[in-house]
Amino acid sequence: MPVSTAAARRERRQLRQAAGIPSPFGMFLKGFLKHPVMVGALVPSSQTLVNKMLSRCDWANTKVFVEYGPGVGTYCRTILDNLPADATYIAIDTNPDFIRYLRHEIVDPRFSAVLGSAADVIQIVADHGHEKADYVLSGLPFSTLPAGVGDAIGQATADVLRSGGAFLVYQYSPKCRDFIEPYIPRIDHAMEWWNVPPAQLYWAWKE
Ligand SMILES: C[S@@+](CC[C@H](N)C(=O)[O-])C[C@H]1O[C@@H](n2cnc3c(N)ncnc32)[C@H](O)[C@@H]1O
Repeated sequence: MPVSTAAARRERRQLRQAAGIPSPFGMFLKGFLKHPVMVGALVPSSQTLVNKMLSRCDWANTKVFVEYGPGVGTYCRTILDNLPADATYIAIDTNPDFIRYLRHEIVDPRFSAVLGSAADVIQIVADHGHEKADYVLSGLPFSTLPAGVGDAIGQATADVLRSGGAFLVYQYSPKCRDFIEPYIPRIDHAMEWWNVPPAQLYWAWKE
């Protein structure tokens, strides 16, 4: 069943309520209270931020889309609505509660929720039968990641992207640029104020 139809969403909400599983907001807040440093935000991204961040994707030519830190899947529906039918969407998160939640909520043959670290993206993409990704989207809290992890992720992302692909990053702190620019120097930047808190957006284009 496609993830995006209103009937599918209603059915999943009813199943979720019957199983005692929290709403996306409740689940996100629970995740923040349990792992504040790794989650790094109190509420999910706004739909305005989601649309702006994804607005530069060339969907018709996207075969592999990777997301780091999907949380409760705030971007998933919009990505799946745009992704070609034969594409692959790999969402990687270190939080087992979020991965379990995503596997329950998002039923789509293109989608795979992986419990793991973004630093291992090359192996994870290879495990799905691909060598390169067209886009990597990141909501990671770069500035609070353990020492060395941000740079490892920046390097691995540059290696996994095909040329012409892009690293799409939204963050509340501009510090995240330090983990992108050394590996992918061509960067476009914008702000989105309609988000709590306002977000920095970066599109880093692999040459
Ligand atoms: C700010 S939340 C982003 C939530 C969601 N994308 C949104 O916009 O609503 C950051 C997410 O990054 C995840 N995370 C933290 N370190 C990670 C890592 N090394 N690899 C993958 N995910 C990680 C956290 O578990 C959390 O789900």
